[in-house]
Parts: sequence; structure tokens; C-alpha cells
Amino acid sequence: MYTQAMDLMPKGDGKPSVPLSATEQQLLDRFEARIDDGAFVEPKDWMPDHYRRTLVRQISQHAHSEIVGMLPEGNWITRAPTLKRKAILLAKVQDEGGHGLYLYAAAETLGVSRDELIDQLHAGKAKYSSIFNYPTLSWADVGVIGWLVDGAAIMNQVPLCRCSYAPYARAMIRICREESFHQRQGYDALLVMMRDGTPRQRDMVQDAVNRWWWPSLMMFGPPDEASNHSEQSMRWGIKRISNDDLRQKFVDATVQQAKVLGVSLPDPELRWNEARGHFDFGPIDWDEFWRVVGGDGPCNRERLADRAQAWDEGAWVREAALAHAAKSTTQRKAA
Ligand code: 3HC
Repeated sequence: MYTQAMDLMPKGDGKPSVPLSATEQQLLDRFEARIDDGAFVEPKDWMPDHYRRTLVRQISQHAHSEIVGMLPEGNWITRAPTLKRKAILLAKVQDEGGHGLYLYAAAETLGVSRDELIDQLHAGKAKYSSIFNYPTLSWADVGVIGWLVDGAAIMNQVPLCRCSYAPYARAMIRICREESFHQRQGYDALLVMMRDGTPRQRDMVQDAVNRWWWPSLMMFGPPDEASNHSEQSMRWGIKRISNDDLRQKFVDATVQQAKVLGVSLPDPELRWNEARGHFDFGPIDWDEFWRVVGGDGPCNRERLADRAQAWDEGAWVREAALAHAAKSTTQRKAA
């Protein structure tokens, strides 16, 4: 289990609130020198408690996002237009559940219990990605989520494969491989609708793009100057690229994909800036972002209620699995 580190950093900005003792400063200097050398931190290694708490916060929110992220698309499994699309969507939603389990397991290496994290989620005390608080109104939403939401997730998660905390980095390597399938299946579904679909189906795709574009840009987090964790997280190799830089990378890549798809992006200020070598884009509605993060999005209450109901209804599965495990252990010991 993780080394019980002294709380060298107070909650908040990461600056020590009291002067460190010589020993504490030496431990911190040695830790930061290892990070600077590109070393990975394992659960048994010494770490500042602020580092541990930052990882518990981020990894648990990430895990919650994967599990809650199953709900918007799960809503369309019974209404997929073909058996092939149903099978693909089932596989994708099942993957998201698996991603959540890998990430809860990574969080547990930091000394927190999965049940504790899940209780926080159900009590509305834990964050998960704002994007999952928007409704999926048509089948085209499923394709757009794959294309834009999983596309943004890949952009944000690939750098996490080099996160300084080794269990998180290892989980991300496996997750990113599966995410590329998620994005491809979404984009492929949209290509079919745009190329072979009726005018009404093409309108459905455009409507979904209009609704999901800006919330997808919000996935990368607040602007760098409003990000209270970025400086310390980048110092400690948890965050490798800033919120704004990843957002820009996503916009630059996605504009071209939209052109191939034959959809327009709902931003009249979107245009190539030769001097910058990037696409300029319009202002993001940060009031909407903080409203949704604060629990007042279109589907926040519904998502938490669904998660809590699924947890209660699944209690028998957990009890059966635990009883089976206990029986197997007894039989192994008796053998
Ligand atoms: N939704 C909800 N809260 C968000 C957010 C978002 N999109 N972006 C930022 N926040 C919160 C942060 O959690 C933080 O609040 P807290 O202090 O209460 O935790 C606050 O806003 C300030 O933001 P910061 O930028 O300072 O926070 P971070 O340094 O943690 O950066 C992040 C935010 C980039 C999302 C980072 O946490 C991260 O990379 N997380 C891991 C990846 C992740 O969670 N990806 C999104 C969802 S997973 C997904 O889409 C899976 C796909 O398969 C469906």
C-alpha cells in the first residue's frame, strides 16, 4: 500500500503553509528530483500527501466519468438501428465499465476504498466529467459521442499514459487502445448516415454536432488561468499538457474530420490562423460549464439517480460474487 507520507503540502495551492523541517524538505527535494528525471512513482514509494490526494481526486473522478459515461449511450442499446450497431454499442458501453474498474483499482493503490469513492459519487459529493450531463436525443448522438467525446477523451488521456504515477499510467495505456475503437465506431456510424442516409438523417447528425460541440471543448477543463490544479499537477508530471493546449489540439484535429464528414461546426469564429498555425475559435460559455459542474446541468440528477438505482439493484451480484469467493477460499484452504 502507499507509504504514509507526511502532509507536506496543505490543501489547495500546493504551497507549504508551514515551513518544512530539514528532513521533510530533503524528502520533497528527492521526490521532485526523481520526477524531473522522468522516474515513475509506485504505490510503495514515498510521496507527498498532496501528490497522493491530487491523484485520488483525479483518478476517482476519471473512474466516475467512465461509469456515468455508460448511461447516455446505454440509453440507445435497445434502439440501435441494426444488430451490428447494437453489438458495437454494447461492446463500447461494456468497455467504459471496464475502464471504470481499472481506474477504481488504480485509485485503491493510493489507500482509498472503492466503496468510499462510490458512496461519494452517489451522495453527489464527487465530480465526474461535465459532458455526461447532456441528453442523447437521437441515434446520431451515439455517433457524435464516439467522434467528439471519445475523441476528446483520447486527446486528454494519451498524455496520461506518461503520468508520473505508474498504476495510473499503466491503466491509461490499456484504456487508450480501446478508446481508439470508440472514436472510430462513432465516426463510422456518422459517415454512413451522412453518405447513405436520408436528408432527415443528415439533419439529425448536424443537430447532434450542434448540441455536443461546445460541451466537448469544455471536457478539457477550465482555461489555464482558471485551473487551480494545473501548475502543481504539471510540476509533478500528473498533467503533461495544459487544458488549453489540449483543447487547441482537439479543435485543430476535429475541424478537418468535420469537413470529411460534411458537417459544419457551430462556431462562426472558427477559422485558420496562419500566424498561429492553429484554428481560432469562439468564446466558450464558462458559466454553462460551471453550472453543469456544479450539478445544474440538463441530466445531473437523472444520472446520479440512475447510478444509485443500478448500485442498489446490483447488490445481489456483489453479494453472490463475495459468497462465491469466500467459498472458493475455504475449499482451497481445506484442500
Ligand atoms: N467536468 C467536471 N469537472 C471538471 C472538468 C470537467 N470537464 N474539468 C475540470 N473540472 C474540475 C476539476 O475536477 C477541478 O475541480 P476539483 O478541484 O473539485 O477536482 C476544477 O474543475 C478545476 O479544474 P483543473 O483544470 O484545475 O483540474 P485538473 O487539473 O484535475 O484538470 C482534467 C481537469 C483535465 C479533466 C483532469 O482532471 C484530467 O485529465 N482528468 C482525467 C481524465 C478525465 O477525467 N477525462 C474526462 C472524462 S473520461 C471520458 O470521457 C471517458 C470516455 O471513454 C467516455
